[in-house]
Amino acid sequence: MRAAGGGAEKSEYVRKTFSEIAPRYDLLNHLLSLNIDRGWRRKAIAELRLERKPRGRYLDLCAGTLDVSQMLASTSGFDGSVIAADFAEPMLRAGVAKVSSLPVSPVTADALRLPIESGSMSGAIVAFGIRNVADLDAGLREVHRVLEPGARFVILEFSTPRSPLINTAYQLYFNHVLPTIGGVISGHPSAYKYLPKSVANFPVAEDLAQRMRAAGFNSVSWRPLTLGIAAIHSGES
Ligand SMILES: C[S@@+](CC[C@H](N)C(=O)[O-])C[C@H]1O[C@@H](n2cnc3c(N)ncnc32)[C@H](O)[C@@H]1O
Repeated sequence: MRAAGGGAEKSEYVRKTFSEIAPRYDLLNHLLSLNIDRGWRRKAIAELRLERKPRGRYLDLCAGTLDVSQMLASTSGFDGSVIAADFAEPMLRAGVAKVSSLPVSPVTADALRLPIESGSMSGAIVAFGIRNVADLDAGLREVHRVLEPGARFVILEFSTPRSPLINTAYQLYFNHVLPTIGGVISGHPSAYKYLPKSVANFPVAEDLAQRMRAAGFNSVSWRPLTLGIAAIHSGES
């Protein structure tokens, strides 16, 4: 199977691939990111500013194995609930034990058609997921639809470092080391070749910020993390 171009074909490729790598996803995630991903997720959750509405209902979109949901629902002072949506059910199942005693409801759902009432969520976050959604602009509009006016939306996503030196080292790691280790451990070589391609095809930070604005978000801003390897974008509905 190879990475598909767009639309329904891309959607089906992504859903099937994540369903297949689900049992090894957590191990590979933390190994290949040298555990930096945990700190990135914590910073992204802080951008939600949960203290503004600690009893609210929050959406963890493309929730995968529920790391963000777990961290969000365990935040000190949080007294609300989390809907964790992902269309690859095996990913949710692989992580469900992490949230067994937390106010998190995993829901198998497509980011483009969320089974959530308009204007009902107090905030939304998506970590390493929006890049995979077949129609980025429709995905951003769908998040905007489910948010209450003024609610915050946070995107944590890989980015491309600006420094040529860092970028060369990063591309070497991302295009060669990562697909090799990922392919061997997951037993799914094409999945870890898809990752660098999907990052290369994803809009640069300014473009993503512009597309958030076009989808209806205000006060959009972004900042790079760890030498520009990742970035956090945020906006308000
Ligand atoms: C790289 S994983 C990230 C998981 C998790 N957020 C994390 O931080 O580890 C991307 C997830 O996005 C999900 N995904 C991609 N496109 C989606 C869509 N259209 N609707 C729902 N989930 C989607 C995949 O199934 C996968 O679980």
